[in-house]
Amino acid sequence: MASPATKEKVLEENRRVHALENRLYLSRHPEQTNFFQRGILEKMMAEVCTTLRPGSKILDLGCGTGYLSLGFLSRGYHVTGLDLSREMIQAFEESIPATLRPQARLVVGDAEEFLSQNQDEYDVVVLSAILHHLFDYESVLRQICVRLSSGKQLLVFFEPLKQEVHSPIKFVLHRALSWLDEKLYRFEMKAKSIPVLDDEYHHSDYQRQFGGIDPNRILEILREEGLEVLKIEKYCARRYGLHAWLANRVLGTQNTFNLFATRP
Ligand SMILES: C[S@@+](CC[C@H](N)C(=O)[O-])C[C@H]1O[C@@H](n2cnc3c(N)ncnc32)[C@H](O)[C@@H]1O
Repeated sequence: MASPATKEKVLEENRRVHALENRLYLSRHPEQTNFFQRGILEKMMAEVCTTLRPGSKILDLGCGTGYLSLGFLSRGYHVTGLDLSREMIQAFEESIPATLRPQARLVVGDAEEFLSQNQDEYDVVVLSAILHHLFDYESVLRQICVRLSSGKQLLVFFEPLKQEVHSPIKFVLHRALSWLDEKLYRFEMKAKSIPVLDDEYHHSDYQRQFGGIDPNRILEILREEGLEVLKIEKYCARRYGLHAWLANRVLGTQNTFNLFATRP
């Protein structure tokens, strides 16, 4: 029988897997940058940024190769990007244009440890596709909430949620679309000689074994911590934009969510 995961094991697996991901992360995850997802991201960024003053400070926890942080940097904000993986941080660092470099501070470390040791104030804390990698995401979320004073914001972006499709016809179409999406993806990765890391993700995507992140649980925690949720959006991400468009506009399925909250 496999030994039960511990926090250390989950951290170790995340370091290992993301060392393999590093510079090819976004090529391997087109579901984060296809036209459909980009539209959602741009809208969410615009909503978050309308409330910010020039020079505001952003903390991107689990920033990875930094595609979201780069969006904040190019809008003139100061970004602290923290990630457990030295290789992901290095790839991020290499992609920052020299003119934006002075606005960026990059840190290698564990999110929980960083939050307990660093007392700086941030205007926005960003969590993009990191909660499902954490051993105890609830505790990290609460740690962040207590740090947010009045007017400060939290952006939870692109976390997996449990898919539920009740209609049998929709279910068949949903599975067929998902199958096609993955087939084409594998074909493209093979053609580009990009290894897919399927078998590597098990322990690093720790929360997936529990069905992903439950948005209702997040809402509960944020309310308990006194935050006001301004927006929650559930939708379906797919490798290719056209498939994402069909999944959302025709089938109405959901497998991910974004959330934007503030402390009143
Ligand atoms: C799925 S990637 C998402 C990267 C980026 N936020 C994005 O949206 O493209 C998850 C990232 O979380 C980082 N990570 C995992 N566990 C972490 C932890 N305990 N503390 C900080 N970063 C962590 C990984 O190294 C990885 O770069």
